[in-house]
Amino acid sequence: MQTSQSPVTRPAWAGAIAQPAVEFPLTPLNLLSGQIPQNLRGTLYRNGPGCLQRGGERVGHWFDGDGGILGVHFGEKGATGTYRLVQTEGYLAEKEAGKFLFPNYGMKAQGPFWNNWLRPVKNAANTSVLALEDKLLALWEGGKPHALDLESLATLGKENLDGLESGQSYSAHPKVDPHTGEIFNFAVGINSQLYLYKSDASGRIIKQDSFKLSGLPLVHDFVLAGRYLVFFVPPVRVNLITAALGIDSYSDAMDWKPQLGTQILVFDKETLQLISRSEAEAWYQWHHANGYERETGEIVVEMVAFPDFSTNQYLKEVARGKTETYAKGTLWRVVLDPQTGKVISREQLCDRSSEFPMVESSLTGQPWRYTYLCVHRENADLRRELVGAIASFDRETGKLTVADMGENRYPSEPIYVANGEDSGWLLTVVYDGNIQRSEVWIYDRETLNDAPICRLELPQIVPLSFHGTFSPQNR
Ligand SMILES: [Fe+2]
Repeated sequence: MQTSQSPVTRPAWAGAIAQPAVEFPLTPLNLLSGQIPQNLRGTLYRNGPGCLQRGGERVGHWFDGDGGILGVHFGEKGATGTYRLVQTEGYLAEKEAGKFLFPNYGMKAQGPFWNNWLRPVKNAANTSVLALEDKLLALWEGGKPHALDLESLATLGKENLDGLESGQSYSAHPKVDPHTGEIFNFAVGINSQLYLYKSDASGRIIKQDSFKLSGLPLVHDFVLAGRYLVFFVPPVRVNLITAALGIDSYSDAMDWKPQLGTQILVFDKETLQLISRSEAEAWYQWHHANGYERETGEIVVEMVAFPDFSTNQYLKEVARGKTETYAKGTLWRVVLDPQTGKVISREQLCDRSSEFPMVESSLTGQPWRYTYLCVHRENADLRRELVGAIASFDRETGKLTVADMGENRYPSEPIYVANGEDSGWLLTVVYDGNIQRSEVWIYDRETLNDAPICRLELPQIVPLSFHGTFSPQNR
């Protein structure tokens, strides 16, 4: 519904983040169409910025919103859902104060400029989740994870995973080795150290090491590929002087320096030692789809790459409910030699504007066939619109199969849930801007062109989210 305050030109997706999220307790979900697949058991978790305003002020960047977690449990009696904001220290303090208090990725603290001097940004706990046996972690790359109850999503407190020192962060894109259950992750410290972590399946850090980077780059994701951990360090550097002095927010202090090129770092995943480093042409990526090691030894990595860093400006504009910056990311493949780090080939696989590439979790670090993505609708205005479809890219045939949500509907990153070896479902949370409602849609992977096989109604609008996971544990 358009209100008197909102200009009529506001895009439909803005309705999903116009108001702070309304939490809801475990609630049976109404079936809107189709049927929940009989074998679907487990929980879909998603994380994203749930609260983007406080005291009449909007956040400076989409990344600044306080994290909100959606949990949708599929059990014997159907589906139940709950949505909870992560009760971080910063969230609680700002809620109490009724205004923003802390600097953030894309905003400075209110008040005199010394309020920002060397002050850590608020842990927004808003980027992704990692489901462990006994807790769910809400992840944010600039700080420690927050542990939540797997069912109620109640916040239990900050986690150090038996290994994170004071000031050490834990990024939002951990990789779980499907063979061993070991969890690999990293963090970039303000001291320019790249920290590497290896955890056992419980999440406990069992080995860590660090590597000195040049300058302070923005590294959001990395790749597990066979025996290797691979980093593509984009040519973005934080101007530490303007950021530390509070002259700029971190986001505004980031400089695009294409002359630096993309730095490639290859580590041995067992020893966490550097094997090779190299440089390639400049590009930017937030996310990789996956990586693997060919029988002939080369590493293959696929990612959604952008020609520059304008994507950060676009995502900043999302926070205000209206975008105007052109930023097109597409699916690319990079093949490199792990012993030298040198790129052997780099090619675009598909011209469609894409984000949030995913693969079946059991194929992480292994050869895979289907890459799942969010894509813009055909002929969408990329300056104004968010992604409006999900898709499956078949790496064997090069064919992109698209499930278009229809006008004014916005899906989240599609998460694949296997149903045996050769079939499965794609789960996505859709905001329907036509009727201001959030829904869970389930597609059969084999019939992605058709309508979803099931649609479930969520009791409140769930703000657009970033990342999630599916935990097959039955609750
Ligand atoms: Fe991400």
